[in-house]
Amino acid sequence: MWRVKSLDAILATAEKKSLHRSLGPIQLTLLGVGAIIGTGIFVLTAAAAQKAGPGMMWSFVIAGAVCAIAALCYSELASMVPVSGSAYTYTYAVMGELLAWMVGWALILEYAVAASAVSVGWSGYFLGLIENALHFHWPDLLRSGPAWSMNGFMPVADFSAGIVNIPAIVVALAVTALLVIGTTESARVNAILVVIKVSALTAFIILTLPVLKTGNFSPFTPNGWFGPHGTTGMGVVGAAASIFFAYVGFDAVSTAAEETKNPQRNVPIGLIGSLTLCTIFYLLVAAGAIGAIGAQPVLGADGHAVQPGSAAFQAACNLAANKDQLVCSNEALAHVLREINWPVVGNLLGLAANLALPSVILMMIYGQTRIFFVMARDGLLPKGLAAIHPKWKTPHIVTIFTGVCVAIAAAFFPVGQLADISNSGTLFAFFMVAIAVMVLRVKDPNRPRPFKTPLVWVVGPLAMVGCAALYFNLPTESMLVLPIWGAIGLLLYFAYGYRKSHVGRGLVEVHETDDDAPPTGLPGA
Ligand code: ALA
Repeated sequence: MWRVKSLDAILATAEKKSLHRSLGPIQLTLLGVGAIIGTGIFVLTAAAAQKAGPGMMWSFVIAGAVCAIAALCYSELASMVPVSGSAYTYTYAVMGELLAWMVGWALILEYAVAASAVSVGWSGYFLGLIENALHFHWPDLLRSGPAWSMNGFMPVADFSAGIVNIPAIVVALAVTALLVIGTTESARVNAILVVIKVSALTAFIILTLPVLKTGNFSPFTPNGWFGPHGTTGMGVVGAAASIFFAYVGFDAVSTAAEETKNPQRNVPIGLIGSLTLCTIFYLLVAAGAIGAIGAQPVLGADGHAVQPGSAAFQAACNLAANKDQLVCSNEALAHVLREINWPVVGNLLGLAANLALPSVILMMIYGQTRIFFVMARDGLLPKGLAAIHPKWKTPHIVTIFTGVCVAIAAAFFPVGQLADISNSGTLFAFFMVAIAVMVLRVKDPNRPRPFKTPLVWVVGPLAMVGCAALYFNLPTESMLVLPIWGAIGLLLYFAYGYRKSHVGRGLVEVHETDDDAPPTGLPGA
């Protein structure tokens, strides 16, 4: 189980066509910005405010910094091993099959659950839009899943506020259908969506900053840095662990290394540039939201701020005094604009989110199918999963399976909890990548590296510490999902993958052209 896949075999699998090196630092930065902005800023700002209050501005900085150092490690491997499967493939080559399986298994958590989170985020904006623009009231019980709380180790669902999130199911299945018939995102559609997203955020900043009230910034950290005693996942650092979701997607830049002019210089510029630009945007948006209508958390019966998405939180938000609070909104940014008397712009911002978020869902589900595909090709998952549809040329079985799972999770869970669970998988994968970079520097120092992580012996350990610190500040329930998911993964590995692995059976196959893979299009997968 410590067997590794030879790096040479992996590289021979990489597409032989030599990609034209055309991307410069500015294009690379814009590519990153397009891949990053999504549900995190449009929706999770409310959850971050509930956890940290105005101090969420620090949370954006912390999460952005952890991403930046993880990104520098990620880029070294992405540029040397430019093949499908991202972190899974790197780990297979460097640390062996068992850990690779665990990373691939964690990436399922990252991609599929992120797709569910974004579907729920989309639903919030969709419902707000049809209610405010069309005055159509969607049935209450069909607009969100139940509120969850823990009774010891048992999750308990409270269906009084909602049973199932129908719009989230519909959008997840619609995107799945597009993927089954072979839709991938074109560069042009992506460019248009980037302009829409950035314009919406810019309008938000222009309208909110002038009405900013400095009094709204105090108290600045009502829940402190780590939340009230006895709570988990609250406070500034807890909010950073959640809002980390808003930065996921930057790997688009790392995987474009092959197509970049002078990658050693331009990849770090693209990465750090896009992360910095997003951080600045996020800070301005957060400042505008806080300054315009305030961002203090709502309190539970015991006088402490309650975990967003929990039954106690739902109860607090149902109180007449709280219902217009930022933290209680499912469409935070549109809500702020309506509260400061810009209802039409609020609706337009909602429309922008509704147009742009499905492309994030598409990239996530696509990324998921890509990882399943590569694992099945390595023999770690049943080959049948990777079957390609004769007409549409897409891995339809694995796509439909993924889409149905995404829709089920989106139907019954709140966006914040889904994002937290997704973050736990992502943080694990980045942690492993940081180790892999350092191990490979020792094991294979002479292999050409188009991009080298600067100060790897400082940046690598820092990335590990940053990822671990954020992971341990997630709420306990989300933190527990990773080891439980991992245990299920281990059982499956020993029951199936360990025996069927192609590497284990001595099959070293070289997929000369990657032709048997579904069409590429998603950076990072
Ligand atoms: N960063 C992406 C988003 O916020 C995942 O939707």
